[in-house]
Amino acid sequence: MRRPIAQRARRLRFATGLALACVLTLAAGSARAEPRQSAVENCAACHGLDGIARDTEVPHLAGQNERYLFNQMMAFRTGKRAHKEMRYMARNMSVEEIAALAAYYAALPPR
Ligand code: HEC
Repeated sequence: MRRPIAQRARRLRFATGLALACVLTLAAGSARAEPRQSAVENCAACHGLDGIARDTEVPHLAGQNERYLFNQMMAFRTGKRAHKEMRYMARNMSVEEIAALAAYYAALPPR
């Protein structure tokens, strides 16, 4: 038997509302995930405050894929990706902080 149309519409509205609530929760979450300014300042010495490195041996981070940045920092933290300075930088960072830094640099305009 087919459901009355009104009931189906109600279910649809509920699903849409649920999806919207999820999006809003995520948005609020990312707003809270601002990295500590001091963390960004630590990175700025090499990667620049704007995510554009001044030294040719340092990669630009601005506009890079967020997931990629996150994965690389996690790899530095565990030592899976070996690099002395970056291992030192990532060693004491929490996953939340790494996620916030990845979001910060990914959102900057690339060179
Ligand atoms: C002393 C200089 C220095 C500092 C400070 C530094 N980095 Fe790096 N970073 C580097 C260098 C050099 C590399 C390239 C590593 C390699 O050759 O594997 C790198 C690589 C990276 C990468 C990988 C980029 C890619 O394209 O694969 C990320 C992400 C990154 N750094 C994030 C950060 C963050 C976030 C901070 C601050 C918490 C930071 N770095 C602080 C020098 C630095």
